[in-house]
Amino acid sequence: MAQDALDYFLHALGALFRIRRIYPSGTRQVLQSAKQASQKLAEWGRPVRIAFLGNDTIVEDRRIGTIPVSFRALFQSLQQLGFESVQIEADTGEEDLTAWVENVISKSRIPYRSSKIVAGSLNLERRAEPDSALTQAVTGYMGFLAEAQEVLSDLESKKPEGLVRAREVVCAIVARLAVGRELFEPIREMKNFDDYTFTHALNVCVLSSALAQALQVSDEMVSAIATAALCHDLGKKEVPKEILNHNGPLDPKGWLLMEKHPTCGARLLLDIPGVESSNPLLPVVAYQHHMGVNQSGYPKVQKNLPQYTLHFASLLVSIADVYDALRTVRPYRPALTVAKAATILIKDTLAGKLHKEYVSKFLLMLNVLAPGRGVVLSDGSSGMIVETHAGYPLCPMVSDEQGRVRDLSEPSAPTICEVGEDSTGDPQRMPAAEQPIPSPRPPL
Ligand SMILES: [Fe+2]
Ligand SMILES: [Fe+2]
Repeated sequence: MAQDALDYFLHALGALFRIRRIYPSGTRQVLQSAKQASQKLAEWGRPVRIAFLGNDTIVEDRRIGTIPVSFRALFQSLQQLGFESVQIEADTGEEDLTAWVENVISKSRIPYRSSKIVAGSLNLERRAEPDSALTQAVTGYMGFLAEAQEVLSDLESKKPEGLVRAREVVCAIVARLAVGRELFEPIREMKNFDDYTFTHALNVCVLSSALAQALQVSDEMVSAIATAALCHDLGKKEVPKEILNHNGPLDPKGWLLMEKHPTCGARLLLDIPGVESSNPLLPVVAYQHHMGVNQSGYPKVQKNLPQYTLHFASLLVSIADVYDALRTVRPYRPALTVAKAATILIKDTLAGKLHKEYVSKFLLMLNVLAPGRGVVLSDGSSGMIVETHAGYPLCPMVSDEQGRVRDLSEPSAPTICEVGEDSTGDPQRMPAAEQPIPSPRPPL
């Protein structure tokens, strides 16, 4: 199989690296393993592209969950040296392979470029030939990330030009989402790129925009929500870094500081000239994004303000915010899988913290509740989704262990309380096609 040929090459390349570290250059063992690697590459017959993105390793379009021992040492060295991308031509000979391996062993951090091998950073070392869809998506994402970083830095300094740039970036993001969902892929598949603050802001922006588009709100409102989502955590600027990156649960004093970021963010945004007239949603979403539908979150609403309701934009952003936080590696825990993150969204929805219809739409968008997915129900039984009601994805038809099909949309039926891991094992699946839900249009 073609995939096997690629695996054999990677094993042979890893062996060359290990053997060269044991034996001096030019010895029989090194020459033999270089020859072996070159032969395996020729059998694969195509260029090989390896990318390291945060904690993820991608070979061609495939994410490698656990790197096999045979080439783990090589890949770990590349990552430690700061290489994000390696491209090896199909006709690379044993000498070129050996020269590059020598360079890795010498611990050089300088981008490497020979006629057959290019290694360096993801953005700088792109080759002329067309990239894979995933690489294109990642590169596009990284471009937006750099722009988002500049916009947020401007806004943190309360520069009004940040608002203009934010609108430009958001328009570009929304336009890309309208054409296709490729911006989704890096967010869906890669858990962490680099700096949490900026990747989180961009992820929440893209996810909120996609959710708003799926809910068929006006284009103008999608852009306003996207901008507000991009700026939702600006108040974290006022939270000490030790608290933000605290390794473990926060103590009450730490929480008190953390819980101030929505108020700080709203205040910071209101201080930027022109915000109230040009984008009044920005401070609203920054202030409300942790409140929760049932207002069990923070900041607490004063008791003398009856019937305080959250703007629907804040409800959308809060779903994207919770989801992205769960899917990202944090100093105190690993990233959760899509299924585990979806389970927590469902639990938060049942607890009244998140908006049920918007969460339904979000899970539909992520293709989490598709037929074939295993689920655990609130009565303790488990089963598999066999059919999804377009308007009520949280209440699908589920076949139980005895083969009985239960309709979870019936009033007495149990609810889904846990989503099983994706049984297809296909991490590259794109979200399902959009199905409009027959719910009333959200209040604008
Ligand atoms: Fe926040
Ligand atoms: Fe956030």
